[in-house]
Amino acid sequence: MTKPAKKFFEPLAIGAPEPYREIPVKLERMVHFFPPHMEKMRAKVPDMVKKVDVILGNLEDAIPMDAKEEARAGFIEVATSTDFGSTSLWTRVNCLNSPWFLDDVTEIVAAAGDKLDVLMLPKVEGPWDIHYVDQLLAQLEAKHGVKKPIMIHAILETALGVEQVSEIAAASPRMHGMSLGPADLAASRGMKTTRVGGGHPFYGVLEDATEEGAARTLYQQDLWHFTVAKMVDACQSNGIKAFYGPFGDFSDNEACEAQFRNAFLLGCVGAWSLHPKQIDIAKKVFSPDVEEAKFAIRIIEAMPDGTGAVMIDGKMQDDATWKQAKVIVDLAKQVAA
Ligand code: GLV
Ligand code: MG
Repeated sequence: MTKPAKKFFEPLAIGAPEPYREIPVKLERMVHFFPPHMEKMRAKVPDMVKKVDVILGNLEDAIPMDAKEEARAGFIEVATSTDFGSTSLWTRVNCLNSPWFLDDVTEIVAAAGDKLDVLMLPKVEGPWDIHYVDQLLAQLEAKHGVKKPIMIHAILETALGVEQVSEIAAASPRMHGMSLGPADLAASRGMKTTRVGGGHPFYGVLEDATEEGAARTLYQQDLWHFTVAKMVDACQSNGIKAFYGPFGDFSDNEACEAQFRNAFLLGCVGAWSLHPKQIDIAKKVFSPDVEEAKFAIRIIEAMPDGTGAVMIDGKMQDDATWKQAKVIVDLAKQVAA
C-alpha cells in the first residue's frame, strides 16, 4: 500500500508522529436518519435540523420496495425546500447492485447536488465500488454545475468490506468516513444473532471456577470491538472519520450508550440515531466528559510546548499524553463553539 496523502488534518505538536492528527472541524456526533417517503417524517425535518449535527434521508434498508421512488422524491423535496443552517445533509442511497442506485444518484445530484454534503454508500466491498461512485459523482457534478464536491461515506457491513477496509479508506479524496453496519455485517459473516448492534448474552468470558458447584458469571464482551478498532485504524491513517452505526434496541438506552461509548473511546467521532431519543445519547457520549477535559487542560498547561515529562496527581505525563490531551481539548473546544 502506498503512503496515504494527508488531507484535512495536520500534525499539531512539535514532532507529532503520523497517527496524531488535528481533529476535523465539523461536529458529526449523530447522523440522524429519517424515512423520506413518509410525509409526517418529512414535516419534522425543519425542527430536527436544529437538534442534530447531521440529518440523513434514508433510501435503503427499512424503506419498502414499493416506496423507493417516493422516498427519493421525498428526499429531493426536503433537500430543496429546507434551510439546513450548519447541519449537514446526507443521504443513504440504495446499494450498487440494486435497481434503484443509479436513479438515486442521478436524480438527487441533478435536483439537489448543491445541498447534499455526503452520499452514504451501503455494502461497500472494496475500493472498486468507491472508484465507480467517485467517477459518477464527478460526471454528474460537472453536468449540473455542482459547486462543491459531494463526499462519500462507506458503510462497513460485509465480510469482504472488512477485509478491504484500508483500501476503501484510501480509495478517493472524496472519502469522508466510514460507519460500522453491524446488522448486515452479522449476516454477511454468518454470525448467530438477530440484533442490530450491541452485545449478546452468550458472547462472553466465563470467570474462573473457584469452589466445586459455585455459580460462575459470564462477563459479556463487545462483539464489535475488533471491527471498530480495525475501522478506526484504517480511517485515522487516511485522514477520514470513523463512526459506529445503528443500535436497534430502542427500549435499552443504557446499552445504546454503552455501545456508543466503546466506539467513542476507541476513536469514533459519532454514531447513527435511528430514534429521537438516541440523539441526546450520542450528543452526550461523543462530547468529551467535563472532568476529563479539565484534566486534559492541566496536562496542556503543564507542558506548553508539548515536550518533556511532568507528574500530575501522581500520574506521569509526557509528549504522548500531551497529544491525547490535545484530542480531548480540541473536541471540547468544538463542542463549546
Ligand atoms: C446498517 O446498515 C447495518 O446493516 O447495520
Ligand atoms: Mg446495512
